[in-house]
Amino acid sequence: MTKRIAVFASGNGSNFQVIAEQFPVAFVFSDHRDAYVLERAKKLGVPSYAFELKEFDNKTAYEEAIIDLLDKHEIDLVVLAGYMKIVASPLLARYEGRMINIHPAYLPEFPGAHGIEDAWYAGVEESGVTIHWVDSGVDSGKIIRQERVPRLESDTIDTFEERIHAMEYRLYPEVLESLGVERRR
Ligand code: GRF
Repeated sequence: MTKRIAVFASGNGSNFQVIAEQFPVAFVFSDHRDAYVLERAKKLGVPSYAFELKEFDNKTAYEEAIIDLLDKHEIDLVVLAGYMKIVASPLLARYEGRMINIHPAYLPEFPGAHGIEDAWYAGVEESGVTIHWVDSGVDSGKIIRQERVPRLESDTIDTFEERIHAMEYRLYPEVLESLGVERRR
């Protein structure tokens, strides 16, 4: 039996798009009602939900609403792809071991929200991409897969970023398949 996945994204959603073109996605969730990922979902015919933390009394209530969606859709694996919130206790308690994240650096190097820029301005010769299990820290969970991406002489921050993203688009589908998510037929 294939694993049923949901993808969480806060903004652009290019990783979501790559995943949804290759795998059935039960739904996409965004914590921003105006996120571009929601337009991508519509075009791809993937169900989507969006609500914002500020619409709830507290983060627990917000995450309980997310848990309801995951339960309703019988999700086996939560795939974070540019979801820019820390996952807190009700959601993590319920889905730890069933939630993965992609980070655009070679963890534990350059965790946090600006992994690409931080590596670039640190002047590294190489950075990378990491896919890991989500735990209560920031980009700190057990690593599933990571690959190096070199910084080339000719790179600008834009070309460096493009090559990091290209590696993300290659690795996330490979990892999903390795975790038992079946490709579209
Ligand atoms: C990706 O670089 C991902 O690694 C990071 O946020 C970015 C999201 O990009 N966590 P997109 O929304 O998938 O285009």
